Amino acid sequence: MFKTIKNFDLIDKRVLVRCDFNVPLDESGEITDDFRIKQTIPTIQYLIDQNSKIILMSHLGEPNGVVSLNLKLDKVAEKLAEYLGVAIGKEDDCVGVEVEGQSTSLKSGKILLLENLRFHKEETELVDGGVNLDFSKKLSYLGDIYVNDAFGVCHRDNASVSGVPKFLPHCGGLLLEKEVTSLDKIIKNPEKPLIAIVGGKKVETKTKFINNISKFADYVLVSGLIAKEIIDKNIKFDFPEKIIVPVGKLDGPDIDDESIRIFEDKISQAATIVWNGPFGKFEDNQYAKGTLAIANAIINSKAFSVVGGGETVEFLNKQGMIDKFSHVSTGGGAMLSYLAGDPMPGLEALE
Ligand code: 3PG
Repeated sequence: MFKTIKNFDLIDKRVLVRCDFNVPLDESGEITDDFRIKQTIPTIQYLIDQNSKIILMSHLGEPNGVVSLNLKLDKVAEKLAEYLGVAIGKEDDCVGVEVEGQSTSLKSGKILLLENLRFHKEETELVDGGVNLDFSKKLSYLGDIYVNDAFGVCHRDNASVSGVPKFLPHCGGLLLEKEVTSLDKIIKNPEKPLIAIVGGKKVETKTKFINNISKFADYVLVSGLIAKEIIDKNIKFDFPEKIIVPVGKLDGPDIDDESIRIFEDKISQAATIVWNGPFGKFEDNQYAKGTLAIANAIINSKAFSVVGGGETVEFLNKQGMIDKFSHVSTGGGAMLSYLAGDPMPGLEALE
């Protein structure tokens, strides 16, 4: 396990923190779910208590190297100020002389939020197959120590994730530590039976995940959409007998009562459960029955439960159920990658 902020003397130090403030927005740019912001508060509060000079950075959306007014981090700054009860200095950029000056003159205990990292294409662009080191270096000028608290983006080889720690002493934040510790309970000697539940969009990445997790899970329950993809593309799994698909119409807006009953029965037997992705068109209340039944079955099972994925978290937040799971991950793709044993450049950079 990597070192964390608790292993360093951070008093009066400029601490450059990579957060994942990639939150869902509505058409007018308002934040529709601030779970990821809230989850970063313990790390930031710890740094305030240490009297550090705190410089926060994140991406938001996929601006692909172009400044987009809707994807500026001002709304994130407002939320942070609200939750922390302190003023947040907001920069117009994330690199350059001006920002460097601001970080150098930052007072202890104060917070600066940099502008969206992905307004610079260098953040995600690979150079000779590796992370952009020039851009990483520019970011590194802003801190004395680098902290990664952005589990959601640890599967990305991005400058702020795997590049900056090459230039600064580095460690993980409290959220990153919590994420890795909780997810390790799924992959390292989980209490059995272990059941994985996989729904949602991005169906192609999910089928790869299903095969990987089925190697150590007892059952993998999948949504109709994924089941349809499996059939349409004739996808083969190493343990097909472990994959449980809904009965009835696979591309309907929700799973039917019989499928709910089958899934509830399997979930009730589990000692460990991992869930990513809703079932059906849950955003429309009339089709949320299946997703809600799965959530309730997990809660009632009393199993150790880890839930993740942007849409799933948004759904659970709306239902007021978020506190009822053992761990709710801020990672979507990152959670799937970690559980599947895929490369995690953000974590490797901290070793
Ligand atoms: C996420 O939303 O899963 C993370 O913030 C990573 O975002 P990305 O998929 O755009 O890299």
